[in-house]
Amino acid sequence: MAERLTIAIDGPAGSGKSTVARRVAAMLGYLYLDSGAMYRAVALKALERGIPLEDDAQLEALARETHIELRAPTVEQDAMGLKNRVFLDGREVTEEIRTGDVAQAASQLATISGVRAVLVAEQQRAGQGGGVVMEGRDIGTVVFPNAELKIFLEASPEVRAQRRWKEHQEKGEQLTLLEVLQEVRERDKRDRERRVSPLVRAKDAVLVDNTAMGIEETARLIVFLAKEKVPA
Ligand code: CDP
Ligand code: CDP
Repeated sequence: MAERLTIAIDGPAGSGKSTVARRVAAMLGYLYLDSGAMYRAVALKALERGIPLEDDAQLEALARETHIELRAPTVEQDAMGLKNRVFLDGREVTEEIRTGDVAQAASQLATISGVRAVLVAEQQRAGQGGGVVMEGRDIGTVVFPNAELKIFLEASPEVRAQRRWKEHQEKGEQLTLLEVLQEVRERDKRDRERRVSPLVRAKDAVLVDNTAMGIEETARLIVFLAKEKVPA
């Protein structure tokens, strides 16, 4: 068993994947990688270019010619709770990709197998060698099916929407809780029902429902499970 594990965290929107994965990575001294940011970055580029989200061939070509880089946040950004810094063809889009429109567009283009193939290959390259916590929808099932530790993170839809709504409020965005709940439900449905790499729990993933758990508590549980996997 490797000493520096590959940890896969999957789950629906707002379940706490990014926050918890980032905390786990910090506790273990691992690299944190947000695969969703890659889908969001390609989605932003497609929206900017006016490419229809139904045009599979154009979107696959777009994904192929796109360079996405995930970098660790600066000390100030880390203190603000920022996750990965995201660079799209060299331009920083860390904040721009966090809108509801980009999230919806990302989940639409994430249904295209050609787009997924390009991004999965990138993710496998970025995470090779272990010592990594990667989060998304298909990390334990497709990207790293041999990950030593797989977590499926869940929380009730109401709590997930509430968490997201609070984030929008903090950014001064005027969305109602109901609108956020609808966005989350719509995206979950599309992610769970799509033909390619749907959001499902890998058979060997540990189900962690953190509806009533804090970030620190959830991260500690995962670190505990990780330490059990490392040889003494
Ligand atoms: O990445 P994902 O969409 O799964 O969720 P996230 O962006 O990590 O978390 C959404 C929000 O929920 C963040 O503001 C977290 O701070 C918060 N959260 C929480 O309050 N309690 C948890 N146990 C997990 C996340
Ligand atoms: O942060 P949140 O959980 O809301 O979303 P995200 O992780 O940034 O992912 C945005 C969208 O990208 C998701 O709704 C999925 O459709 C797609 N995605 C995916 O299909 N596979 C992944 N490994 C990560 C994201």
